[in-house]
Amino acid sequence: MGPLRIGIAGLGHVGAGLIELVQRQERLRLPGRVEITGVSARSQSRNRPVNTDGYAWFDDAATLAEDPNVDVFVELIGGSDGPAKFAVESALKAGKHVVTANKALIAKHGTALAALASEKHVDLLFEAAVAGGIPVVRVLRDSLAGVEVARVSGILNGTCNFITSTMLDTGRSYDDVLAEAQKRGYAEADPTLDVSGMDAAHKAAILSAIAFSADLDFSKVAVRGIEEIGLLDLRLADRLGFRIKLIAEGVLTKAGVVCRVEPMALPHAHALARVDGSLNAVRIEGDPLGAVVLTGPGAGSGPTASAVMGDIAKLFRPAIRNAFGRAEHHVAQPFVTGDNSEIAPFFLRVRLADKPGTLAALTEALAEEGVSVDKLLQDSADESGASPVAVVTHRCPRAQMQAAVNRIAKLSVSVEDPRLIRIEAAS
Ligand code: HSE
Repeated sequence: MGPLRIGIAGLGHVGAGLIELVQRQERLRLPGRVEITGVSARSQSRNRPVNTDGYAWFDDAATLAEDPNVDVFVELIGGSDGPAKFAVESALKAGKHVVTANKALIAKHGTALAALASEKHVDLLFEAAVAGGIPVVRVLRDSLAGVEVARVSGILNGTCNFITSTMLDTGRSYDDVLAEAQKRGYAEADPTLDVSGMDAAHKAAILSAIAFSADLDFSKVAVRGIEEIGLLDLRLADRLGFRIKLIAEGVLTKAGVVCRVEPMALPHAHALARVDGSLNAVRIEGDPLGAVVLTGPGAGSGPTASAVMGDIAKLFRPAIRNAFGRAEHHVAQPFVTGDNSEIAPFFLRVRLADKPGTLAALTEALAEEGVSVDKLLQDSADESGASPVAVVTHRCPRAQMQAAVNRIAKLSVSVEDPRLIRIEAAS
């Protein structure tokens, strides 16, 4: 299979992230090789985190889109109209597949562009346009094709989620946290699009169009942002048991699809209440599925670039692939048996005879293997006369922990085999 030749228009955070991925593609699992035929951006001289010297430079994105050496046009310019729209139309008319991260473009002109792509028998893919690195567009469109969706909802703007959760956690000001979101590359070039709810609305409209086979009409979407939400609201709601988050949703009603974005108070126990920072989450509810929730990084250069690359990977022909996605050129990894070298904290539960010195014997066994105790809880003896004791250890190699457990199992005061459970790191 020859290389898939891509032209990249737009070299901001996501464009740079994509080039970085192409440059280390031997570690990825693409069906074949990707070659960058040309790049285009507003300024050739701007300092970028990746080296673009080896790629042909195009001043005009549409010229790159039509270039005969380009199989796939990757649009990362942004904006619903202007050069992005013109270049995408040029690519489709020229019979090129298009991959884009541009939610404003798809929300506003997606129906017409999809029709043009169908007419030209090419693909128009936009996984990166919704929820950054979370694979939701294709999951909803393809994997959940057998589900009658009732509601699709979630946290679809990383900048707003970063602002509301960081303000609450740290007490920092809105402006300060927004500036950090911009620095981290979460925010749009014009962050008003984020905080006004418009960016989340674009994404919710796209998901709704897919979920309900709806004619995308962005003018019907009701949008409220987070500009009027203050630290006072976040703190008081939290004390009452709620997290305020910007929620985007599409719901199927008798009259049609209602799509809206607004800040909502989520009970602490709600699955989305603890989705903090720049994370996004999408909940898809339908029959006969029930609900699935996808969570992950919704913004930022790397995650979004990975979604763009996932779309590019889909465009290799032939479309039929090895069932595990394997290809000849992949760096293959062997399966090996774990060697107990993982380092983690552990939960250990024992039952000890209720007599003097038993606890000391337990802690001595741990200490002899170099396992340090973080927390220890002993309960009163049960009917059989044995006291349950639970220990949480500090991080240590599993082999060391296992050696301590073997010692404990052999203690005469231990009335039952110890139970050892590895503690998962808080994520
Ligand atoms: N500005 C967007 C966000 C980036 O904050 O979620 C991803 O579309």
